Amino acid sequence: MEITNVMEYEKIAKEKLPKMVYDYYASGAEDQWTLQENRNAFSRILFRPRILIDVSKIDVSTTVLGFNISMPIMIAPTAMQKMAHPDGELATARATSSAGTIMTLSSWATCSVEEVASTGPGIRFFQLYVYKDRNVVIQLVKRAEEAGFKAIALTVDTPRLGRRESDIKNRFALPRGLTLKNFEGLDLGKIDKTNDSGLASYVAGQVDQSLSWKDIKWLQSITSLPILVKGVITAEDARIAVEYGAAGIIVSNHGARQLDYVPATIVALEEVVKAVEGRIPVFLDGGVRRGTDVFKALALGASGVFVGRPSLFSLAADGEAGVRKMLQMLRDEFELTMALSGCRSLREISRNHIKTDWDIPHYLPAKL
Ligand code: FNR
Repeated sequence: MEITNVMEYEKIAKEKLPKMVYDYYASGAEDQWTLQENRNAFSRILFRPRILIDVSKIDVSTTVLGFNISMPIMIAPTAMQKMAHPDGELATARATSSAGTIMTLSSWATCSVEEVASTGPGIRFFQLYVYKDRNVVIQLVKRAEEAGFKAIALTVDTPRLGRRESDIKNRFALPRGLTLKNFEGLDLGKIDKTNDSGLASYVAGQVDQSLSWKDIKWLQSITSLPILVKGVITAEDARIAVEYGAAGIIVSNHGARQLDYVPATIVALEEVVKAVEGRIPVFLDGGVRRGTDVFKALALGASGVFVGRPSLFSLAADGEAGVRKMLQMLRDEFELTMALSGCRSLREISRNHIKTDWDIPHYLPAKL
């Protein structure tokens, strides 16, 4: 049957993938409250469309960190994509650059920065986990720079791995034949089976739990690439990120895989945007599945959004063609939302084009 929206890829992926892999991709932390809330919160934002505006021409293009891209929809870093499809991150890279937008490659990719660069031109960011062994980080950042990556997305919400219970039950480990390609030569490329989630054990062994704001300065001392801080969800941290010279903020709760019962990112977005006061761009990821979601994020002040699971599920379902189609569907839906709201360019999307349930005085979330 024809696929008509991004969410339909999940069902196909679930049928195709081994349970351990599907569960790793799909799950959130603990009660998965935030996982549901990342989606549900979008449905508490309604449109205030404007009519009788000439929408015969619509421009969805934009600029991110000075790079012109075709649309404000980009690919979030998700680990281990060869578990989804043999072409893994290479397919994602090809689909993303043919869509004219940005791919963020995970530190824990199953293809190296060099392999991804070899797929051809494209604007790519590199997501960084800071390891205890800082020499590993220095080498990796240098390799990403040399491979032409344009920014570092520093993930700051993962000093330890969130408790994802299906990974514990499944004793998650990297399937035989696959490695974390960026770390292969450093003897850190394997995720072995343990009595827990193998990834949680790997993180406990390798990732630096002592990472703190001063390390942003350290990172700036080892690279000239702009640094996006990924995982900010409060005004307080947004202000500190600006002070420390972040080039941008990604409002993210790691796809609800880290601390459960944090708000949906679309709910947290506005306080971050207000705190930043336009000094740096603010992006959002988490639960974006529709063009209407993209519009809502932009109306609340985001400069663009990233999608995580949709790229994994479309990759699992149909490789590069799947990721292409996923991006095209989001683009088409977003453009249609703009037309039906009376917006011809991203500049015209405003807070007045939406109404949220928290705009209502004395609003209390229904579930609290
Ligand atoms: C992630 N995410 C993630 N983030 C990161 O900084 N480094 C990583 O390696 C990964 N890996 C990863 C794997 C899987 C399977 C998922 C689902 C997510 C988080 C990701 O970048 C992003 O924040 C979320 O995926 C966004 O939410 P949605 O679009 O998946 O709802």
